[in-house]
Amino acid sequence: GAPVEADISKLEPGQMMTVEWRGKPVWIIHRNQDMLETLPKLADQVADPKSDKPNQPEYAKNETRSIKPEIMVVVGICTHLGCSPSSKFKKGADEGMGADWLGGFLCPCHGSTFDFAGRVYKAKPAPDNLVVPPHYYIADNRILIG
Ligand code: FES
Repeated sequence: GAPVEADISKLEPGQMMTVEWRGKPVWIIHRNQDMLETLPKLADQVADPKSDKPNQPEYAKNETRSIKPEIMVVVGICTHLGCSPSSKFKKGADEGMGADWLGGFLCPCHGSTFDFAGRVYKAKPAPDNLVVPPHYYIADNRILIG
């Protein structure tokens, strides 16, 4: 499949957009400060906190699983059986996630949950973190995926 270019110039902090790459949804999430601050707090709640499994390129093997800390690029396909998780950005009961929920994604098929770096929570059906596709910046606000 051909690489896909994404223009993120209009993507505000706290927003996400989806582009299609090889027939898969790729999410681009512009994490705001609140979202970024959730990541270190979740290290003992996610199954692979340091992304030791090879589900991201080497350059995205870091705490935020990304090239730029604020911009997450991730394939929006659950690593269990391939459903597409839904965004659950708000905290707490207004998203039906319980008061402790710090925000992220919920797979509707069997209940796997993921944080804002696509890391899967422990004891969920999905075995692995969401996949970070190969990508790079061709300009400040333009990403080439693939
Ligand atoms: Fe996502 Fe099963 S496909 S939890």
